[in-house]
Amino acid sequence: MEYRLSVIGTGYLGVTHAACMSSLGYTVVGIDNDAQKIECLIRGELPFYEPGLEELLQTQLASGRLTFSTNYSDLDDCDVHFICVGTPQQQDSFAADLKYVESAFSALVPHLKKGSLVVGKSTVPVGTAQKLQEDLSRLAPQSDLAWNPEFLREGFAIEDTLKPNRLVVGVTNDKTEEILKAVFAPIISLGTPWVRADLPTSELVKVAANSFLATKISFINAMAEICEAAGGDVTVLATAIGYDPRIGNKFLQAGIGFGGGCLPKDIRAFMARAEELGAKQAVEFLREIDSINLRARQRVIDVVRGELSEDLSDYRIAVLGAAFKPESDDVRDSPALDISAQLLAAGATITVHDPKAAANAKKRFPALTFAESIDECVAGADLVLHLTEWKMYREIDPSHLASLVKTPRIIDGRNALDRDKWVAAGWTFHALGRKS
Ligand code: UGA
Repeated sequence: MEYRLSVIGTGYLGVTHAACMSSLGYTVVGIDNDAQKIECLIRGELPFYEPGLEELLQTQLASGRLTFSTNYSDLDDCDVHFICVGTPQQQDSFAADLKYVESAFSALVPHLKKGSLVVGKSTVPVGTAQKLQEDLSRLAPQSDLAWNPEFLREGFAIEDTLKPNRLVVGVTNDKTEEILKAVFAPIISLGTPWVRADLPTSELVKVAANSFLATKISFINAMAEICEAAGGDVTVLATAIGYDPRIGNKFLQAGIGFGGGCLPKDIRAFMARAEELGAKQAVEFLREIDSINLRARQRVIDVVRGELSEDLSDYRIAVLGAAFKPESDDVRDSPALDISAQLLAAGATITVHDPKAAANAKKRFPALTFAESIDECVAGADLVLHLTEWKMYREIDPSHLASLVKTPRIIDGRNALDRDKWVAAGWTFHALGRKS
């Protein structure tokens, strides 16, 4: 059967999913309430930066298979509907805000044709899918619901969608699993592992994965604190433990910690949900993971004060990086931007550079000054902070930079620069978890 697909919510996840499914040959309609966003997508413009995605969007629009609309009646003909809306942290608690999932679901239900399938991809508190399925069996009993968590990383969104390291589906019957197997057949044929789960397990897989990743990062940042106290070197420690395949060398980059729209809010939402379930203690350690993570930001500020002075008002600091990680223009809960804003509030003069995220950072913190180039950013600086490990920063010539700053003094907040090269060029070099 030739399935027609809809994707509801055209944010990061939704646009990527829609364009990738269209590239597999499906007819896909992307739906969003935000008319401006939809107009932008129809013109072939991506409202955010993701390597290769704008090009893919344009080729898929040109193929005629991919369309976008604000009108739910445009998905009347579709067989499978993917819900890809956001689930941000609530303003006044750790819990996830489900208002977008609920409104997408309510708007979709009247348009479901007989035998259609609703597939949730949004990251939701465990129990959400079960509740939606109960609602669906009342409101549209001839449709079914499944959950298919998404594991894409920003910066690798296309690759992670088309060649994921696993596909996980939460289903309640064989027929629904068969539909999903057919829809994902081109990806399964690559040898992608297929995991069938029940609804709650599929929701939990996602938050468990993100909790594990957050734990790995905070673990190595805790080791960085110990290395600082004991005179050790966390980068050597990470390399050494990473050779054990049970540990692995990925996600052991010590520094200013994790940010973005997923890891921080997902571990908090998990804690909130576990408490509701009466299992608070089981994930209480995530509170410590969160604290270690936020402490890493504070530790950089402490090094800055130690290097300059308690009173930062006479100092000019150049910040390299504003995005929460390289290859992204996302500044949601960005450690780099948080540190910049805190130093600004402490009275320092801050100039920030980022190759992609400057515009978003400016929207969030208009009081910060942004430079167009690295040279402009560091001119006359008393201190340089390296906070997002863009490739262009790793390729900087430290001798050239030394000729522009007032004092050649750098803190590598990502443990990504070649220390020996910088020291040889006359820089005082600090990094979290390593001797200066
Ligand atoms: C994360 C997960 O990696 C994806 O699998 C998941 O699908 C996604 O969240 C989601 O829930 O949608 P992402 O937020 O794009 O993806 O970013 P990551 O690559 O996981 O990085 C998160 C943060 O950890 C970044 O701020 C990064 O700088 C930091 N990090 C990462 C470290 O500090 N050290 C490391 O070793 C690795």
